[in-house]
Amino acid sequence: MSSKLPESKIACGGLILLDQISETNSPDLSADDGNELDITFALAQACFSKNDWEGVCNHLKRAIELSPEDPSCHLFYAHSLFSLGDISASIRHFDLAISFEKNPQSIEDLKKQLFSTPHIALRGFFQGSHAPERAIFMSAAVDLIKNRPAPFNFLEIGSYAGSSLLTWSNAAENFLAGECHIVCVDPWGESGADLYNPTMKKNLESDRAYEVFCHNASLSRENVRVTPIRGSSHDILPTFKNNTFDLIYIDGSHQYADVLSDIVESAKLLKNGGIICGDDLELQLFQCDQEFVENNKTADFIKETKSGESFHPGVTLAVAEYFGDVSNFAGFWVMRKISDGFEKVSFSNATGLRPPIWPWEFHERITAYFEDSDELGRLL
Ligand SMILES: C[S@@+](CC[C@H](N)C(=O)[O-])C[C@H]1O[C@@H](n2cnc3c(N)ncnc32)[C@H](O)[C@@H]1O
Repeated sequence: MSSKLPESKIACGGLILLDQISETNSPDLSADDGNELDITFALAQACFSKNDWEGVCNHLKRAIELSPEDPSCHLFYAHSLFSLGDISASIRHFDLAISFEKNPQSIEDLKKQLFSTPHIALRGFFQGSHAPERAIFMSAAVDLIKNRPAPFNFLEIGSYAGSSLLTWSNAAENFLAGECHIVCVDPWGESGADLYNPTMKKNLESDRAYEVFCHNASLSRENVRVTPIRGSSHDILPTFKNNTFDLIYIDGSHQYADVLSDIVESAKLLKNGGIICGDDLELQLFQCDQEFVENNKTADFIKETKSGESFHPGVTLAVAEYFGDVSNFAGFWVMRKISDGFEKVSFSNATGLRPPIWPWEFHERITAYFEDSDELGRLL
């Protein structure tokens, strides 16, 4: 192996560490191009050590210009593109690496390994990393409805890169005896990307979020089927029939008017006995200075004056206006539809699931959270 190649591991979306790459062929450095190729790889490695995937990709692109038929250049580039969320380009460069490699089996194995792994590990992709306990409660919400008649229909409003989808599909695979169809509604960048921080905005507008979502959706197994619908909830929700869904999760726009309209529409689409829930209810209205919330209902995420905590005023106000006080578990709010309205739920007899794909530090946080909590019946 050439010392010109990055020696360290290439970290990919699925947390795969590919020391194996270093076992594959090194670039065939010609005397003239060798120097620039050396420098290009050194620069790629410097970017890699800073988790700057854009930088890694830019330098590897140049490496491919210098050595266009070199399988290891394509292989490194393919891995870096995957990490960046350019899934389709990653597949193209894996296939080029395979086509230029004399013994392609190891590259084929690496590709298979990588593409059978959920993509969760990157900045801006792993939603919910600030509160991993919420995902445990989300899975417990699926446990609550397991005795309802199959097939099950779920609706997710706001899916981004599919992190919450992985939670729903994992819970459905483990808890539900029948078929589960998960419909995911999101414009994925065609509108509304301006609402988000620069990383999310870029991932949405470049289509990386959608590509990563599709990759994660393709990993659903057994009884779970996923249908993405690209569009705003305002346009898409009215096209569904009333009383269709067993579980509806609201995590799209957090602006007050949008959250309220998502709740109003979803309430009609939910079956009797079904669960409606949503993300980012850090504070309920009764915990806040209500006038402050009213005056800031179009803000995204701000500090509340009475409690001093940061919260999403649009979510707080819309949820309170429609339901009043709701069941709230670490910011994940939940209600059950009954014949004459909605009731609170309890998870004290429910089971929650740890997502198998999580990094260890999340598991530590979850263990610490549930050690002191009587909110959940059982944690698996
Ligand atoms: C916070 S992210 C969702 C994260 C995702 N649920 C997860 O936990 O992995 C919000 C998403 O809502 C989408 N969105 C914004 N406005 C929307 C709307 N009106 N209808 C549907 N989705 C919307 C955005 O494109 C973005 O992908």
